[in-house]
Amino acid sequence: MRECKIVSKKFHLQNSHTLEVSRQNGGYIALEKIKECTPTQIVQIIKESGLRGKGGGGASAGDKWELMPQDSEKPSFLAVNCDESEPGTFKDRQIISYDPHLLIEGILITCYAIKAKHAYIYIRGEYKEYQDILQGAIDEAYDAGLLNECDITIHRGAGAYICGEKSALLESMEGKRGHPRLKPKQKEPEWFFGNPTLVNNVETIASVPFILENGANAYRSYGTEKSPGTLLFAMSGHINTPGVYEAEFGTNMLEYIENYGGGVKNGKKLKAIIPGGVSCGVLTAEECEGLTLDYEALRGAGSSLGTGGMIVMDEDTSMPEALKNILEFYHEESCGQCTPCREGSGWSDKIVGKILDGQGKKEDLEKLFELADSMNGKTICVFAPSISTVLVSFITKFRQEFEALVS
Ligand SMILES: Cc1cc2nc3c(=O)[nH]c(=O)nc-3n(C[C@H](O)[C@H](O)[C@H](O)COP(=O)(O)O)c2cc1C
Ligand code: SF4
Repeated sequence: MRECKIVSKKFHLQNSHTLEVSRQNGGYIALEKIKECTPTQIVQIIKESGLRGKGGGGASAGDKWELMPQDSEKPSFLAVNCDESEPGTFKDRQIISYDPHLLIEGILITCYAIKAKHAYIYIRGEYKEYQDILQGAIDEAYDAGLLNECDITIHRGAGAYICGEKSALLESMEGKRGHPRLKPKQKEPEWFFGNPTLVNNVETIASVPFILENGANAYRSYGTEKSPGTLLFAMSGHINTPGVYEAEFGTNMLEYIENYGGGVKNGKKLKAIIPGGVSCGVLTAEECEGLTLDYEALRGAGSSLGTGGMIVMDEDTSMPEALKNILEFYHEESCGQCTPCREGSGWSDKIVGKILDGQGKKEDLEKLFELADSMNGKTICVFAPSISTVLVSFITKFRQEFEALVS
């Protein structure tokens, strides 16, 4: 397996979070380099690199940057998404802990490209420790005169999962409840107090300095044609060495787990993997055979790559219990704006709870499919369709386990 370190290059260094160590190891070189380029040239380089958003959706970063006006009378903003509340996902905090200056450099380059003078980092409420490290790095950057033309402000969330959704994040930053907004029909930027705003994930922005320093082709030399570059894949669950390890897209999933995760714990057999945070459909061990870690392959397998946070489950895992755990989370976190989501998240949680308590009936499984159908494609954001995908994948693929509890 080829070692590739684009964002994790400095993670192993002592005091890697400091400006001194960052600079000694190539930090802020890309920022110097961009002075030769115009903002539109930088957007073009990002487009050519094929960089895809690493917050879950995998949208083309260059296409999103291009939506930002270059000649607006209104100020433009960058909002960096560090909400990171998806269970199974803990990669952005690695960047903030071990290389916050890489993120700051990426922010400065992005702001130059989209002509923004102010960037906000929206950080998950529970991440106080990481917020402090980040603030320390921002203070160092101010003292070193790196932030003379652009301000960076950390905005701390209050711990709601839905605030990771980009429009809910902006509502929250505006001081309102974090409710997702209706999506526009045409492609346009996001809006922060009516001003054009780009929202990108921490890792997306942290990948920018490498591309600007080494060129679009250097980035494309990793990964696959349609999923170029690398991702900080994460592993948790029944694994010997859980953690975050950078790998190129297109890496074989089971080899990755064996190589970095040391295989399934206690010599047990693999039963299932949720490949990219709990919003992705579950895969059986058989489905994981030969599967590669890229957007296309995971979609082809009927799931998605999501954030690359893999949750590994061994042969002893009760799939109804695992599903209950996920549904409790969704039930708690639905923002409640849409009836199918508000009611469906709670109702499905209650039904699976009833099944686990031995009070379930066969019809309950059909009711769960009906609920899944009612939540799919009829809501403001994709939170409810994700519940639908998860429900259907668990019950379809592990039906015998559910049936055993209701017969
Ligand atoms: C329910 C929900 C939660 C989300 N949570 C996050 C999150 O914690 N972090 C993140 O970067 N993106 C999250 N997203 C995706 C964002 O809406 C947005 O697409 C992303 O921040 C854009 O950045 P990217 O293109 O760099 O990935 C979430 C989306 C949904 C629907
Ligand atoms: S789908 Fe759920 S989380 Fe998304 S806006 Fe509707 S109620 Fe809120």
